[in-house]
Amino acid sequence: AHDSKANVVWNRTSVTQAMREQLNGHAGKCIWFTGLSGSGKSTLANALEIELNRRGYHTMLLDGDNVRHGLCKDLGMGEEDRGENIRRVGEVARLFAEAGIIVITAFISPFRKDRDAVRALFDQDAFIEVHVDTPLDVCEQRDPKGLYQKAREGKIKDFTGIDSPYEPPVHGEIVLKTMSDNEQALISKVVKHVL
Ligand code: PPS
Repeated sequence: AHDSKANVVWNRTSVTQAMREQLNGHAGKCIWFTGLSGSGKSTLANALEIELNRRGYHTMLLDGDNVRHGLCKDLGMGEEDRGENIRRVGEVARLFAEAGIIVITAFISPFRKDRDAVRALFDQDAFIEVHVDTPLDVCEQRDPKGLYQKAREGKIKDFTGIDSPYEPPVHGEIVLKTMSDNEQALISKVVKHVL
């Protein structure tokens, strides 16, 4: 097979990331939320963006349900497709960070190797992995979209936590225990890491 990348060079831009960041008044970063379906990722990511926006930060929020309607609408929930989903989102997040923006992502991202591959795209202090640590039984109890019930009934397969694994972060920057802290306390824990 011919290599389509063989004749593609990398062009350096004249305006650098540092120049974009200087104009924005802050560095570009990626705040990566990971956790089970129904753990509270989207809610917390949204609350974090409200807080950062209020403080004058330039932000962007990428959310699993939304991205799967566009950029990743061709992908399913098998392990390989989830890997490709996270790879694409990681590359997009990097582009936003290069634009000097604080990008917040909310994807289950259940596989450690996929999250680590995204981490490798960023400078060490520019990637903040946030585990939204809500016990499976609590997520299943909440079941906001009725998906756990469908998974239990065998109507959805490869459902995270039921018949597809979730690998929690081992060296993540932040763990949010949603059962023991209120939303404001959880959000300030993340905000501290961004400033
Ligand atoms: S992943 O694993 O990171 O690629 O998943 P993500 O892009 O975040 O999409 C998760 C949302 O898809 C819905 N959904 C499922 N989740 C888990 N397993 C299966 N099989 C599944 N099928 C559909 C579900 O609404 C997830 O949304 P959240 O917000 O996480 O509940």
